[in-house]
Amino acid sequence: MAASVSLTLHVNGATHRVVADIDTPLLYLLRNDLELNGPKFGCGLGECGACTVLLDGTPTRACVTTARVALEREITTLEGLGTRGALHPVQQAFIDEQAAQCGYCLNGMIMTAKALLDRNPHPDAEAVRRELSRNLCRCGTHVEILRAVQRAAVLLAERGGHDVAAVPAGDPP
Ligand code: FES
Ligand code: FES
Repeated sequence: MAASVSLTLHVNGATHRVVADIDTPLLYLLRNDLELNGPKFGCGLGECGACTVLLDGTPTRACVTTARVALEREITTLEGLGTRGALHPVQQAFIDEQAAQCGYCLNGMIMTAKALLDRNPHPDAEAVRRELSRNLCRCGTHVEILRAVQRAAVLLAERGGHDVAAVPAGDPP
């Protein structure tokens, strides 16, 4: 069994130290050590997308990514997007479109959509579908989710590309 070592992770703009085996899945460190529960444990096999975080802006499946891979990289989780008083446009758009049933897939959908909109602020429907095609939703909320991503693109454009604005809000998805 590998020894635990002190690891430094850069998450949502802050530096954290955790003591763990360097090959621990990043998802375990985020959820269990840092109490960031936005990323969800779904399949644990890299297949569903529920655990998605951004590593240097790229959607990454945290259940099959070890701490070793994440060191020295900027990790963004759902908690790093918006706050209750200032939602990220993607979060706001998911609320506006009521794009959830159980909500378990939403972390992955939102993080993947955010990365897409960062790269391509005006994706057409096919581009959104293609980007989200590997994120599974067992509830069949795909139509609303696709609409939400396109609404998020409009909100972002209205905010001049700024991704956070003070808006009244309930709990962010
Ligand atoms: S929990 Fe990571 S891809 Fe399913
Ligand atoms: S809303 Fe339930 S898995 Fe997508």
